[in-house]
Amino acid sequence: MPLILGIETSCDETAAAVVDGVHAVRSSIVASQHETHAPFGGVVPELAARDHVERIDSVVGDALVTAGCVPRDLDAVAVTVGPGLAGALLVGVAAAKGFALAAGLPLVAVNHLEAHIASNRVEHPDFGPPAVVLLVSGGHTLLARLGTGWAIEVLGETVDDAVGEAYDKVARYLGLGYPGGPVIDSMAGNGVAAAFPLPRAMLDDSYDFSFSGLKTAVVQRIRRVEAAGETVDDATVAAGFQEAAVDVLVTKACQAVEGEGVPSCALAGGVAANSHLRARLDAVAAERGFRLFVPSPALCADNAAMVAAAADPRVARGDFDSLDMAVFPSLRLGEPISARRRVRDVPG
Ligand code: KG4
Ligand code: ZN
Repeated sequence: MPLILGIETSCDETAAAVVDGVHAVRSSIVASQHETHAPFGGVVPELAARDHVERIDSVVGDALVTAGCVPRDLDAVAVTVGPGLAGALLVGVAAAKGFALAAGLPLVAVNHLEAHIASNRVEHPDFGPPAVVLLVSGGHTLLARLGTGWAIEVLGETVDDAVGEAYDKVARYLGLGYPGGPVIDSMAGNGVAAAFPLPRAMLDDSYDFSFSGLKTAVVQRIRRVEAAGETVDDATVAAGFQEAAVDVLVTKACQAVEGEGVPSCALAGGVAANSHLRARLDAVAAERGFRLFVPSPALCADNAAMVAAAADPRVARGDFDSLDMAVFPSLRLGEPISARRRVRDVPG
């Protein structure tokens, strides 16, 4: 199996991993920047890039030491080239190029969203097309169909905020810190969702999502409760918000599985670590008879093992990228990176 060094710096995790083929993760080091961004309630792009510069060398070094290998043992370097923050992506791509040049290794450019999907392949050798993927993160919320040869067709996506963004915004409003997903997830377990009912957006026939109105609905409901001289605790708000968000995700994922007539559904992205989403999808998959693939929580959040795993098929067939590869902040799921090579990417 090819031994691949993966590098990931698209947002606020500096990560490196060594993967032996798709299924054997020899090391996976993730240096989170959450403490850097927490005071601001969200990721500050300039600070993210600076933190990546400070940490990338030691993170890559740790990944090699933990894997028990030296550069000459490796077969390739895989790096995330988009989508993500331009400055943050540049740090990882520059590090990958430097490493590859010094060690005489070939490079593979990886789409971050495709890496999230590949995280399912790491632990589940039987995961494959045809399937529907629900990709939920801080920057993206979409449903896609995986077809023959892993061809990706986007079925629908958010028309405004990503669901992880909604978690982070509600957490910021409640003063719960950043990132908001994990804290709302654990707090919601102590609240009763029915005590804080919220509308479900876009529960129509389309596979698109909308989450910007949900945060506004949370704020308006809290104000209404307070105007009536009552109080509502954070756990109740967290439970009500989470129930509404997860309800829409689960309903649309089921519609897509049934509408596309596929036997399985895979969950991916940072929000895939959410305990309520995992439990609800698990229950509905058992009830409706489709197979559910879910990565372990460590593989849901941004990491470099998924980047190396995504590159494995290309390394195996010797399909490499050149040292002048660029970064593509607005790269889309399923978009061929080769088509972008000669086009200037406009950060979006
Ligand atoms: O995939 P990811 O690590 O970074 C992006 O590519 O965006 O996703 C980060 C997002 C954040 O919005 C974070 O709040 C959310 O995933 N998240 C969660 C949970 N853990 C992380 N959202 C809900 N429940 C969780 N347990
Ligand atoms: Zn991500």
